[in-house]
Amino acid sequence: MRWGFAWRAAGRFVAGEKPEDAINAIRELNARGIQATLDHLGENTLRPEDAVQATSDILLILDAIQQAGVQANVSIKLTQIGLALGNDLCRENLVRILRKAQANGNFIRLDMEESRLVDRTLTLYQQMRSLGFDNLGVVIQTYLYRSEADVHSLTILNTKVRLCKGAYQELPDVAYPKKADVDASYDRLVDCLMDQALAAYDLNQAVDPFTPPIPAIATHDVVRITHAREYAEKIGLSRQAFEFQMLYGIRRDLQKNLSGQGYRVRVYVPYGTRWYPYFMRRLAERPANLWFIVSNFFRK
Ligand code: FDA
Repeated sequence: MRWGFAWRAAGRFVAGEKPEDAINAIRELNARGIQATLDHLGENTLRPEDAVQATSDILLILDAIQQAGVQANVSIKLTQIGLALGNDLCRENLVRILRKAQANGNFIRLDMEESRLVDRTLTLYQQMRSLGFDNLGVVIQTYLYRSEADVHSLTILNTKVRLCKGAYQELPDVAYPKKADVDASYDRLVDCLMDQALAAYDLNQAVDPFTPPIPAIATHDVVRITHAREYAEKIGLSRQAFEFQMLYGIRRDLQKNLSGQGYRVRVYVPYGTRWYPYFMRRLAERPANLWFIVSNFFRK
């Protein structure tokens, strides 16, 4: 993280190290009709004081969003706010974040991490719903065999779900090893979430730039996006009843194109000094990205 050339390469995917950098990136997106979800980078926190500090940083960014008047909600990782240190500390921190978000009229998305954490993440989600919080949603990864069953149980609570393929190294006993199966699972779960959105969507409701609709289709894969568009068209689901999500710095052309066609588009904007694991996942997804490292190494 101290190598300047590595940071220059990571800068394609990370808005900057300071909250102001992230707010500026969001302003630019908003000016193009695109909303954001802000991620204060950090994960696998191993000391309680660091989990409390990460929570305070997230509370500050919720206020910064409000003060700047930008259209962004917030994505968090439960291991950043203490999941590895036990459920109690993590729950306490999560409640603080949800209370602040609720006071600011904002929304929190729980990112999904390794498969061994899925049960604990979904349990905490359900506990928050039973405490009365409805300003939070989860992420489902289509590479996991269990995801179809998870989506079905989440529909009971009208859960807001971000659907993604999954970014962690998983074993074949829990995840489809073949890309074609991950893709097929993606399309099936899009259909399922869109059916649910059709049943739950109120045509007269105003669009809230902070709160996402039930299905958030998070992918840059044009075949998956085409499937989602066609299925929505087929069942008559309004373009306001779902959204596409993409990562900062990836397929800006596609983001612009979809937004120009009247689809809701939200970009995941990460910022902060703890960018290394996030950047490594982006490299692993697309080995061609290693070129950024090499070209930045030779740049002055
Ligand atoms: P796929 O990998 O098949 O890529 C399709 C095309 O997209 C590629 O051909 C290329 O053009 C482009 N592309 C994809 N990745 C790229 C990259 N790194 N650099 C450049 N181009 C790239 N995962 C997770 O496990 N938990 C989570 O909470 C989240 N959250 C999340 C939020 C949002 C908004 C998005 C878009 C993604 C996530 N992910 C995630 C990551 C997700 O699981 C997945 O790893 C990536 O999105 C890449 O997969 P695609 O669906 O884009 O397809």
